[in-house]
Amino acid sequence: MHRLPWSRRQRNNPGVPNLTLVDGRLTKSDDTVLKNIVDGFQSEGSLMAMPPKGGNPDLTEQDIADVLAYMRKEYNIAPNTEE
Ligand code: HEM
Repeated sequence: MHRLPWSRRQRNNPGVPNLTLVDGRLTKSDDTVLKNIVDGFQSEGSLMAMPPKGGNPDLTEQDIADVLAYMRKEYNIAPNTEE
């Protein structure tokens, strides 16, 4: 999905972010990341928006929660509790 083309170090790619960075997007809380996937999301100055549910309205909130849990486990990135 967001992972294959990038190393865990590459950060300056335009467009789709590298979700494998240990200090990257997945350090946000579960609530925030889930909301951004479900509703869609565009950061300030970003060239490209994340489409709601990645463009697949058939996905359930449980599907999205499962994907997030999978990514956290696979990339070994926990939310940053200081935020
Ligand atoms: C179910 C499939 C997908 C999942 C689970 C997913 C997940 C994510 C996550 C976790 C983020 C970071 C959100 C944040 O910073 O809070 C993100 C951002 C983004 N995603 Fe996806 N994504 C999916 C599909 C897609 C697809 C199909 C596209 C492009 C067509 C896409 C384009 C983007 C872009 C451009 C951003 C950055 C938006 C910005 O910061 O302005 N995503 N995605």
